[in-house]
Order: sequence, then C-alpha cells, then structure tokens
Amino acid sequence: MKITNDTAAVITGGASGLGLATAEMLVGKGAKVAIFDINAEKGIAEAERLGMTFCQVDVTDEDSVLAGFEKARAANGQERILVNCAGAGRAGKIITRDRNTDEVTRYNTEWFNGVVQLNLIGTFRCTAISAEGMATLDPLEDGERGVITCTASVAAIEGQIGQIAYASAKSGINGMILPAARDMAREGIRINAIMPGLFRTPLFENRPEKAIEALAVQVPFPKRLGHANEYASFVLELIRNRYFNGQSIRLDGAIRMAPK
Ligand SMILES: NC(=O)c1ccc[n+]([C@@H]2O[C@H](COP(=O)([O-])OP(=O)(O)OC[C@H]3O[C@@H](n4cnc5c(N)ncnc54)[C@H](O)[C@@H]3O)[C@@H](O)[C@H]2O)c1
Repeated sequence: MKITNDTAAVITGGASGLGLATAEMLVGKGAKVAIFDINAEKGIAEAERLGMTFCQVDVTDEDSVLAGFEKARAANGQERILVNCAGAGRAGKIITRDRNTDEVTRYNTEWFNGVVQLNLIGTFRCTAISAEGMATLDPLEDGERGVITCTASVAAIEGQIGQIAYASAKSGINGMILPAARDMAREGIRINAIMPGLFRTPLFENRPEKAIEALAVQVPFPKRLGHANEYASFVLELIRNRYFNGQSIRLDGAIRMAPK
C-alpha cells in the first residue's frame, strides 16, 4: 500500500518502544496516526511531540477499544493501517521448587490469563474491530483495502524458562495469522506478524547495562540489540509490499534463544 497524506493508521502500544518508533516513521511518511496506549502520560506527550491523536485504550477491554477506534476515526478517518504492538509478559516457571523449604508452587492461572488477554486476545480484538472498519473502504490497487501487522516474539518458537504465559500468547498470535489472512482475503486486507528478537526498548529499562551486554553477545550478527527503528522500517516494508501476506517472520540478527 502506498502511504499518502490521506492514509490513517492506528498503532496500539504506540506510546513506547517498537510502537512509538513505528508511529514516528509513519508520521514521517505523511500518514495520519492515532496511538492507543494505556499509559496516558507518555501517550499524550508523544502525540503532542509528533502531531498524532492519542487515545487512552486498554486493549484488554472491549468498550475501551471500541471508544478508541471511534475517537481515532473521528480525528483521522477510517484507518487503512493497524499495527498491534501493545504487549508484555509476566515471568514465572510453570512450577517452582523453593530451595530452602522444598515447597513446590505453580504459576498462577490468573497471571496466565492476564498475559493471554493482553497479548493474544488484545491483538485479536483490535484486529477484528479494525478489519470490520477497513472492509467499508474503497479498494485501492489490486483491490487492497487495508494492512495489519501484529507483534509476536521469537519466544513463540523458543520460549525460555519463565516464559510459559508469554510464549503461549505469542505463539497464539502466530497461529492467528494464516486463518485471518484467508478470512480477510476477499476484502483485500492483509495481515502479517513480526517476531522480534532482542530490541532495546523501555522493556529493558530496569536491566543493568552488564545484563544487556550479556544479551547482545548472544546475537550472531550484528552483535547488539535491535534498534526500534529497524522494527519500524520492517513494518513499513510489510505495508508497502502487497505480496507479503499471511506470514510470521523473525527479525532477530539470527539469534536462537537458549533455554535461559
Ligand atoms: N523489545 C523486545 O525485545 C521485544 C521482543 C519481542 C517482542 N516484543 C513485543 O513487542 C511489543 C512492543 O514491546 P516494546 O519492547 O516496545 O515494549 P514497551 O513496554 O516499550 O511498549 C509496550 C507499550 O504497550 C502499552 N501497553 C501495555 N499494556 C497495554 C494495554 N493493556 N492496553 C494498551 N496498551 C498497553 C504500554 O503502556 C507500552 O507503551 C510487545 O508486544 C512485546 O511483547 C518486544
């Protein structure tokens, strides 16, 4: 899809990290961008800085998402681009033995549900609501109406120790991509997922520099964490290239995650 000054885009999790870099790049290409984020303080500041529409949205809440799309569409028109970036994990092993007491505890089912709600159900919800709107648009070249990009993770394939919930949710996103692409093919709406490896975003904010260096040396090439704008430029290519559809693709410097 060609991005013009009329192209509206919605980016979830757009107040930070990969979503923010993508929003910034789309603004740079002339698109009218709305960001959805639960963090109003950051969202308002970034929206003001870049001339975007901020919608305070919790992707785990249907009414909140519906209100977000209503606000975004009132400001910018029906979006042709959706990028799902809202997501996070909650670390913990499926069972843990306490070294001192020998007591075994299990990962809380509510935590598991929360991680799935945020990453998987949140992505599904925003995708379905956005696609419903995209289907009302006039088709462009090749009959294309819209393009959706989701954010999975290499954890979907190599879930590490402590990633039971996150890896499950992210592989659920991967599982959604082909049937969603097939479901939406007649409407001319494409969907893909990116599986990022290790990207330097606020997700790593609280980790000491030494721990980040230890991660960086595990990346075959280039020996560093990814930059958020490398993710953003990949999203742009997925938007631009109409033949790219129904695919989950890694962006990871060839890293394959070890068990821990
Ligand atoms: N950074 C990495 O190395 C990496 C690797 C693999 C996958 N990912 C995935 O990429 C995506 C973006 O990660 P990031 O590194 O930019 O993280 P980030 O924490 O910088 O950004 C995530 C954003 O999502 C927002 N968010 C969280 N819960 C929300 C909710 N319920 N509703 C709406 N917004 C919500 C946060 O406020 C935040 O602004 C996530 O899905 C993450 O799982 C990141």
